[in-house]
Amino acid sequence: MSGIRIHDKIFTPLIPAGKIAERVAALAGQINTDYKGTKPLFIGILNGSFIFAADLFRQLNIDAEISFIKLASYKGTSSSGNVITSIGLEENLNGRHIVIVEDIIDSGRTMNTFLREIRQRQPASVKVAVFLTKPSALQYPVVADYIAFEIEDKFVIGYGLDYDGLGRNLPDLYILK
Ligand code: IMP
Ligand code: MG
Repeated sequence: MSGIRIHDKIFTPLIPAGKIAERVAALAGQINTDYKGTKPLFIGILNGSFIFAADLFRQLNIDAEISFIKLASYKGTSSSGNVITSIGLEENLNGRHIVIVEDIIDSGRTMNTFLREIRQRQPASVKVAVFLTKPSALQYPVVADYIAFEIEDKFVIGYGLDYDGLGRNLPDLYILK
């Protein structure tokens, strides 16, 4: 793993794929224990969560469903401020145990808005599984239940996360130099 250029910026390695796989397996193990017999519904937030969601979901050994929705709040390397409402959530959430799957909680604005929407649909419970959090960037009262890694407040790409559309396919996580 060495530095790479995406568009106009240089990124350097932060977390290798092997370490990511270890943490995702550990989270799946916790979820297998916590949700046994409850048939949870996982809701992945597109686009960023698709790789984390696939890796996590594939390691579950319990009955579980998954669906994906689309939101957007980000342009370039700083939060744009506008969160768009979710598209594509057809399932009846009433009485269901929900696990939201997201790539990263930065300011927490996206998750805060989405959680409000989900809670209005009377689920039995709601938890959040997130690949990354940036604790020092948090501005909204959002608490994640399953966190793979906490990172510093810098822009990262790889493992599903992009910089203006590129970098999602990188197996390792990279940080802006
Ligand atoms: P928040 O609403 O400020 O928490 O931002 C969350 C969304 O911004 C995530 O779903 C990501 O799509 C995007 N985002 C935040 N930080 C990064 C980053 O470091 N790299 C790539 N995308 C990011
Ligand atoms: Mg996202």
